[in-house]
Amino acid sequence: MRCNSNSFNGATDASRVYQLIVTCLSTILMFLIAPNPMNAQKTNAPIRFDKQTQVFRIDAADVSYVFGINEKKQVQTLYWGKRLNDADPFPAPKSDPGLSGFDTSVNTTRQEFVAWGSGLYIEPDLKVSFPDGNRDLVLQYDSHTIEGRRLKIVLKDISRDVYVDLEYQIDVVTGVLTRSANVENRTSAPLTVEQISSGTWNLPRGDDYRLRYLTGRWAGEWVLHHQLVQPGKTILESRRGSTGDQNNPWFAIDHEGDGDQDHGDVWFGALGWSGSWQISIEQDQIQQIRVAGGPNSFDFGYRLSPGEQLKSPDFYAGYSHDGIGGASRLLHRFEISSILPHGPKPKLRPVLYNSWEATEFKVDEAGQESLAEKAASIGVERFVVDDGWFGQRSSDRAGLGDWYVNPVKFPHGLKPLIDKVHSLGMDFGLWVEPEMVNPDSDLYRKHPDWALNFIGRPRTEGRNQLMLNLARPDVRAYVFQALDKLLNENDIAFLKWDYNRNWSEPGWPAVAPEDQKKVYIEYVRNLYSILAELRAKHPQVEIESCSGGGSRVDLGIMRYTDQVWPSDNTDAFDRLLMQDGFSYAYAPGVMMAWVTDSPTWVNQRNLSLEYRFLSSMQGSLGIGANLNNWKPEDFTTAKSMVAQYKHIREIVQRGSLYRLISPQNGSEQSVTESVSEDQRSAVTFAFLHSSQMLYPFPRIYLRGLKTDSMYRIAALNGKLSPGTPDIASGAFWMQHGVDVELRGDFQAASFRLDVADR
Ligand code: DGJ
Repeated sequence: MRCNSNSFNGATDASRVYQLIVTCLSTILMFLIAPNPMNAQKTNAPIRFDKQTQVFRIDAADVSYVFGINEKKQVQTLYWGKRLNDADPFPAPKSDPGLSGFDTSVNTTRQEFVAWGSGLYIEPDLKVSFPDGNRDLVLQYDSHTIEGRRLKIVLKDISRDVYVDLEYQIDVVTGVLTRSANVENRTSAPLTVEQISSGTWNLPRGDDYRLRYLTGRWAGEWVLHHQLVQPGKTILESRRGSTGDQNNPWFAIDHEGDGDQDHGDVWFGALGWSGSWQISIEQDQIQQIRVAGGPNSFDFGYRLSPGEQLKSPDFYAGYSHDGIGGASRLLHRFEISSILPHGPKPKLRPVLYNSWEATEFKVDEAGQESLAEKAASIGVERFVVDDGWFGQRSSDRAGLGDWYVNPVKFPHGLKPLIDKVHSLGMDFGLWVEPEMVNPDSDLYRKHPDWALNFIGRPRTEGRNQLMLNLARPDVRAYVFQALDKLLNENDIAFLKWDYNRNWSEPGWPAVAPEDQKKVYIEYVRNLYSILAELRAKHPQVEIESCSGGGSRVDLGIMRYTDQVWPSDNTDAFDRLLMQDGFSYAYAPGVMMAWVTDSPTWVNQRNLSLEYRFLSSMQGSLGIGANLNNWKPEDFTTAKSMVAQYKHIREIVQRGSLYRLISPQNGSEQSVTESVSEDQRSAVTFAFLHSSQMLYPFPRIYLRGLKTDSMYRIAALNGKLSPGTPDIASGAFWMQHGVDVELRGDFQAASFRLDVADR
């Protein structure tokens, strides 16, 4: 504020004084009543609309998302990034004039949702065809409603009664936005939706962006990649009928060369859909970056009769000013509070034992009871019987679809085993694979038409099994009833829901040819509805999403499941890399990690039991080893590690993850730190591949602690270097750092820090 008398040149002294007083008073008054851009003013309403400028603002956490209605009634993006001052001006939006006759205005104006029509060449959010041959759709703003954290914008075609509701919901804690689009056919004839996305995320213009994404395959999931965003399009996708692991529906974009784990701008997002999907990342002709995502448009077609609607999946996205580490911490927090069942405080994951690697299909009452006793002796809380307990299942060649208890393996049903497990103080879990059928099964012999198929064409098997067409109402009913009966008749606390192949011949001969491609949507809807109905009817049951490993992990399935199985590869060293990749998109608390045998079946690598435990303790701990082969000292070690894990699991499962040393790019070391929500405790895991030439393990600089709080350090496993103080400030641990004594091959250590209450 300046009351500068020099501005009154030429006036008399008295009038000068008078003017000066008036100027100063009015400046003070303006300062008091007008929003001052220098003050970071924050509003309580996260979503606002300015009638004058026709601008919407969504402000929450550290994010502002701004868009408005331009003179062509297009909904135009104006800003997405670090939170701005509430008083910052956004004039009424104006559409871009276009670059030339080749790239007209519709291609260069950054729209929130654009349909294919009027000469659009960029990726459309919606493409339809009408029965009269018309395929042109031009959407304009019609109306909107704001209710607290939700905004709905209605768009309508310029001439036909096709309506699209754009839905926005803001999470005020993380600033993560949820978007979806709902198309409604209010014309008098059917139309076909050939492509639909949840909306376009427009990033600030730029040519220095780097895209991070996840790829993988069976036993090799969660590989982190990055590449420069180039002119043109990158498509991340699955055409497999389910999420798949070749790409996972997650992305993060930052500026190349700028930023690290904890600094720099990052825009990130994840699609909540467990069917075929696509995310397109496009840099257009004028270096604008657009990200759009939804069901895969390949082989897609959804016929909407008059009055019918089609809603896209939810697409979640956020922004972090605190680097890629900050981005994943926001996403983890959002998943814990807003996605997982029982959020905002989902139940902590119990330590489980799973028999698969020990017994494979050779399960029976006596063998499982014996394993259960051993598991209970080390503190396991949940005992899970994997594949092989049902139908005529003695290998992967038969039995899928026949969900009755195998009378030879369990002559008295599952009850004696379940009672035994309960008497040992554990709850009971069971493996199922409800969406599949072996041709060698009673179900397939009775209902061959229930499998996905094209009439008269071969049916391609994967792992000797076919896909049931869950889109069919009778198949949905059968699957629900089979599982409901299982849960009614047995005291089951947990289902491991497996899915061991992808689609082939996705025909649905029972419906009209023009409706057959609906299978891509109806299948997934029925999957979700079965999960939801089972959960409602059996609220005590928890569910794991498994797909031959991590092939169905996404924010869609996570709404109905409590945890996921990231990979069949349980080699504790390989897992460091996979767990690191996984953590970019998903919270460590949902990631099951078993301690299995050494040498591992995957790489024939020998790893100490401590190493294997510490690797698994970075997620939700499970044991999958053959306990029949353990020595007494293994049980002693395991008992102590399980007890340790129970003390730290809340920090690991619900805390904030910091990647201190990345295992990526062949790094010899890997270090992670989890900090509790209240920042009073932290636990660190450090792994060494091989030491060389007498070099010590790098010093570990902690993060996320309170600078002025005093923390006590305690080694959980391995040794801290001599001279490490018992107690020091958060600043000390973060700036001075901690040395651990790690030498040799495949070594591991962990320590924790807790506020030392005086
Ligand atoms: C694949 C899963 O990922 C494994 O953990 C195991 O459950 C097998 N299927 C059983 O068939």
